[in-house]
Amino acid sequence: MSRDIQFTLDNRLSLCASFVREGTKLADVGTDHAYLPVKLAAEGKIRCAVASDIRIGPLENARTNIIKYGVEDIVSTVLSDGLDNISPETADDIVIAGMGGELIAKIIKRTQWLYDGSRRLILQPMTRMESLRLFLYENGFLIEDEKACVSGRKCYSVMLCRYDGIIRECSKKNQYIGLLDKDKSDEAQRYISMIKSKLTKKISGLIKSGKTEDAEYYNNILSEINA
Ligand SMILES: C[S@@+](CC[C@H](N)C(=O)[O-])C[C@H]1O[C@@H](n2cnc3c(N)ncnc32)[C@H](O)[C@@H]1O
Repeated sequence: MSRDIQFTLDNRLSLCASFVREGTKLADVGTDHAYLPVKLAAEGKIRCAVASDIRIGPLENARTNIIKYGVEDIVSTVLSDGLDNISPETADDIVIAGMGGELIAKIIKRTQWLYDGSRRLILQPMTRMESLRLFLYENGFLIEDEKACVSGRKCYSVMLCRYDGIIRECSKKNQYIGLLDKDKSDEAQRYISMIKSKLTKKISGLIKSGKTEDAEYYNNILSEINA
């Protein structure tokens, strides 16, 4: 049953939400305001959700919204570093959004029960996206789908992943633009432009400070993306 709530998710969280399976048990790790589970619960799209955060303040924000929008029968909260205090039976789809790519990789790495093909990971890194993609390739996680969105003035990528145990080679191009390489949408093209412009800035900074070898390394990545 759907309930009437008065907020819409921004494009970034909407894209994360679009990857969540209907009727799933959801974990939203690093939930902060809990907008994502609250919205999905209010729309009747999920069976249940656990909204977790490492800090009490954000978890209180989450609790306030859960009560405000009347979804406390569906969404619970837990104080947890990553998935440490979340029990495997309560989460089939796991969203980790709005954190750095390296932190997301660390959280996944130490959670053994994610190494199971039935779990789906919906990942939205804010920084170091290339480190996260490399981690996934090298640790047997398949990136099944990836889409980009524009929210405010920024571009983001959201990846849908699951463990299949196959270790894959990850080219620099894969590391930096992932599956968006094959995506002709405006959002994907804007994401790729953003990555190229970040690399260009980095290269010119390295050249200015005399680090020509490092500049060459990033220049090769840029050429690979442009090829
Ligand atoms: C920028 S907010 C993102 C909120 C929401 N997921 C979103 O994407 O809009 C990041 C949240 O992650 C939480 N966080 C940081 N490290 C964490 C960890 N190791 N485990 C769980 N939560 C963490 C922070 O306390 C913060 O509330």
